[in-house]
Amino acid sequence: MLHVRTRSVDATRQVAAALEPLVRPGDVILLSGDLGAGKTAFVQGLAVALGIQERVTSPTFTLAASYEGRLRLHHLDVYRLDNLAEVLDLDLPELLEDRAVICIEWGEVVVPELPRDFLRIRIQLGHLEEIDDARVLEIEPIGPSWVSRNQQLNLAWADWVISETEDF
Ligand SMILES: Nc1ncnc2c1ncn2[C@@H]1O[C@H](COP(=O)(O)OP(=O)(O)OP(=O)(O)O)[C@@H](O)[C@H]1O
Ligand SMILES: [Mg+2]
Repeated sequence: MLHVRTRSVDATRQVAAALEPLVRPGDVILLSGDLGAGKTAFVQGLAVALGIQERVTSPTFTLAASYEGRLRLHHLDVYRLDNLAEVLDLDLPELLEDRAVICIEWGEVVVPELPRDFLRIRIQLGHLEEIDDARVLEIEPIGPSWVSRNQQLNLAWADWVISETEDF
């Protein structure tokens, strides 16, 4: 488990951009955190780094949006889905086969349908900070594919990582 701190929306986008060199076709990134935590901001940063020129917005009303870049990006927001059947209607298995990068907001409900490897990111408001713009990203590599990238993740995020002993 890694903890990364940002103090602005741009910093959250930079954290996401720093992940870009490490993403591979078929990767799944699961984002959770309260309304306005910065999940979409994270996806925006990753999209720009992937060379996607279209502006990524919240797909809440469309549930899924796809973008072409160095890798294709599927951006899903399952916030409004109240049951798993609806999630499956999104053709999730098909998207997972697509060798694209898949970012899923509010994705905890789809965990049972995910491959064994995914990167779990929980975004929290930095509660020890006085500033409203502070966020702590709790990042958990799940499965061998992501666990084997742990060291690279640490290096990529060295500027933002909170040390094990530090409070946040
Ligand atoms: N450190 C930060 N990281 C990310 N966003 C921040 C940060 N500080 C402030 N913000 C602001 O918080 C908001 C995050 O919005 P965003 O749409 O990314 O959240 P979200 O988690 O996707 O919300 P939703 O649950 O509605 O989809 C933006 O208005 C952004 O400017
Ligand atoms: Mg969002």
